[in-house]
Amino acid sequence: MTDPAPIAVYIHWPYCSRICPYCDFNVVRDRRQPEQAALAAAIIRDLQGQAALTGPRRLVSVFFGGGTPSLMDPDWAGRIIEAARRLWPTDGPVEISLEANPTDAEAGRFAAFAAAGVQRLSLGVQSLDDAQLAFLGRNHSAAEARRAALVAGSVFPRLSIDLIYALPDQTVGGWRKALEEVIALGAEHISPYQLTIEAGTAFDRAVRRKTFAPPGPDAAADLFETTQTVLEAAGFGAYEVSNHARGAAAQSVHNLAYWRGWDYAGAGPGAHGRLTMVTGRTAIATERRVADYVSLVDQTGLGVRAPETLDAREQAVERLLLGLRVHEGVPLTELEALELDARQIEGFVADGLLLPGGGRLVATAKGRAVLDRLTHDLIR
Ligand SMILES: C[S@@+](CC[C@H](N)C(=O)[O-])C[C@H]1O[C@@H](n2cnc3c(N)ncnc32)[C@H](O)[C@@H]1O
Ligand code: SF4
Repeated sequence: MTDPAPIAVYIHWPYCSRICPYCDFNVVRDRRQPEQAALAAAIIRDLQGQAALTGPRRLVSVFFGGGTPSLMDPDWAGRIIEAARRLWPTDGPVEISLEANPTDAEAGRFAAFAAAGVQRLSLGVQSLDDAQLAFLGRNHSAAEARRAALVAGSVFPRLSIDLIYALPDQTVGGWRKALEEVIALGAEHISPYQLTIEAGTAFDRAVRRKTFAPPGPDAAADLFETTQTVLEAAGFGAYEVSNHARGAAAQSVHNLAYWRGWDYAGAGPGAHGRLTMVTGRTAIATERRVADYVSLVDQTGLGVRAPETLDAREQAVERLLLGLRVHEGVPLTELEALELDARQIEGFVADGLLLPGGGRLVATAKGRAVLDRLTHDLIR
């Protein structure tokens, strides 16, 4: 018998102690709402509903994202992990990750999350400079973030650190020093994200009012370049635009599942998923408001209102957009529906944006730096 196809599971926990001014994720201020217990129960029921749609699968990853899942009751996380393992059984390894904010209060609960089955912590350090953290509206200091990283390193086998760069007036020298400091915290994985000014956020309004200006494209490109050089030199090879790992074993199975086009279930308010069902590969998105999500799951056993079957071209577009972000690229066989122009590809190879041959479309470092334009031109 062949092994069932892999499946990853994303769980969205929307609550945050404070809403950061740059964030456009589906978040809710945490006021210890009584509905939180009902949400945890609804997530388990939704997973059961989604498992009925996928049929047998081999679980490879569970990722608790948010919002701030480190605020949830570790017992609920344990129950959700157990449910996912039961629904998509496997004898193989399952990566279990949780996003955390680095406050002292949350670090105090890390051991309970490890006992619940979490092995990989993704810690939102963002910066180790108090002025930058204040600018970002974070609810922790740099010292707290350092302490949380130390606790996490002693409790979890795997630690990843998120950073945000390209802040107003950030210099290459300052960013280099920050990266070196973060490397010293002992994580196996670092995700440096360039600050994006998302529509509708407080930062968006501030930029429109000219309260501050993010660095221009040339300064941002210099900071991106510095990120690559400093992290590569320290053994953190990039395997995706914003993801660096100390060796292949430290790469995130969950991220790779997205980028390789594997199926993933998504539960919790505003979660997305891709499920291959008898009707074909299907995009799912759950209700965004907690109350709507819980009540839809109550009524239907599923948090998804309108699953959408993807046609061959839509699937290929998605494979191209995601596949070119990863250093391994994407097999050309998965892009057939796009009817790519061979002469155009040769032109991009000649310009140093794509690698030649090999049966895969692979962007070079130069190509990844202009990925939006490159993918746009290829799809057109
Ligand atoms: C959804 S957040 C959840 C993690 C956790 N709540 C936190 O804030 O640390 C995941 C990551 O996305 C990144 N992020 C969120 N909004 C961003 C933005 N506008 N620009 C760049 N990175 C962003 C941050 O690095 C953050 O750690
Ligand atoms: S960045 Fe993290 S803590 Fe801040 S609002 Fe977004 S999800 Fe919540």
